[in-house]
Amino acid sequence: MIYNLPMIKGIGYAIPSKIVTNADLTKIFDTSDEWIYSRTGIKERRLFASDSEAFELLGKTCKQALNNAEIKADDIDIIIAASSMPVQLMPNTSCMVQKLIETSRNIPAFDISVACSGLVYGLDIANSYIRSGLYKNILLVTMDNCSRYLDWTDRRTSILFGDGIGAMVISASDENDILSIDIKADGKVGDYISMPVQKGNCPFVDKAPTLQFLDMKGQDVYKFVANIIPSYITDDILNKNDIDVNDVDYLVLHQANQRIISTVQERLGYSDDKVITNIEKLGNTSASSILIALGEALKDGKIKTPSTAIICGFGAGMCWGGGVIRLRDGIFKDANIF
Ligand code: COA
Repeated sequence: MIYNLPMIKGIGYAIPSKIVTNADLTKIFDTSDEWIYSRTGIKERRLFASDSEAFELLGKTCKQALNNAEIKADDIDIIIAASSMPVQLMPNTSCMVQKLIETSRNIPAFDISVACSGLVYGLDIANSYIRSGLYKNILLVTMDNCSRYLDWTDRRTSILFGDGIGAMVISASDENDILSIDIKADGKVGDYISMPVQKGNCPFVDKAPTLQFLDMKGQDVYKFVANIIPSYITDDILNKNDIDVNDVDYLVLHQANQRIISTVQERLGYSDDKVITNIEKLGNTSASSILIALGEALKDGKIKTPSTAIICGFGAGMCWGGGVIRLRDGIFKDANIF
């Protein structure tokens, strides 16, 4: 019997050690806890204290997901890492994962760069690979080292982001855990969130120096997301797949802004216990925010299994994507690997 339906077998997540509070930010530029919290819902964020901490946590997160999936590193057929703000460009994050999980096989490993939509885009790729029969076990990793790409003199952007890691194992099965999945992009509004590559190094071309920092038109991003995402979830994620909003147990939205999460919650008519948030303590951890929120909520018992969840990511590109996934018993049984 050949099985080619995607089962989500295990997840893992890690949050870094270094805590930066809103009060800490008031020491580096003119801002206040009240300003930041009232507009974003963020009180503090976590940063990788060093590259070595980032890679140590990356290895542990992936091993945690493998343990929860009850499969060995050698059973993984491909690694996909959603990592737009990696600790280093080369070797890429997925090849670092390959080394850290100590697989003995030369399996393919590649990164995708879709910022905060990384988990959903990765899941869409994994879904297609599994259904095509090409791979049986996929390790999908999300990792963004946002703090290294922010201008910490810019109070409009540096207040928003934190670092983090997530991992998920998707395996071929006779049971389907991806009940709906969709990805989209609109490059015409790409300048809403941008990051140039650092320039000024080559003597033969335009030498205008630039730094590699994230820039954002905050109000444009806010309006774009608030306009598009609520109806995207109801129309493209739920209705198109004949899923009744009341039949889904949880909403785990990308943690970009508490006001956006509340807008979507209101549109779906969900009570607070159905909406998972962690933005207050972690800020926006880019591609990892959904997986970290899922992992924390499973660990704390806020999410019970078996259940279903709407997931939806959005960000630079502008790219966005969403789906409904099944959360089965045991996907986060091993919370104590760290
Ligand atoms: N502390 C105090 N004042 C600040 C500030 C800060 N950290 N950042 C900006 N300001 C000031 C601005 O200088 C401006 O002052 P001015 O009117 O004197 O020029 C004023 O506050 C309003 O700035 P504005 O950028 O219009 O603020 P805003 O109300 O749009 O809030 C965001 C800014 C970033 C919180 C909001 O636009 C937002 O959340 N956008 C979505 C961003 C997002 O989610 N990005 C990630 C997507 S994945």
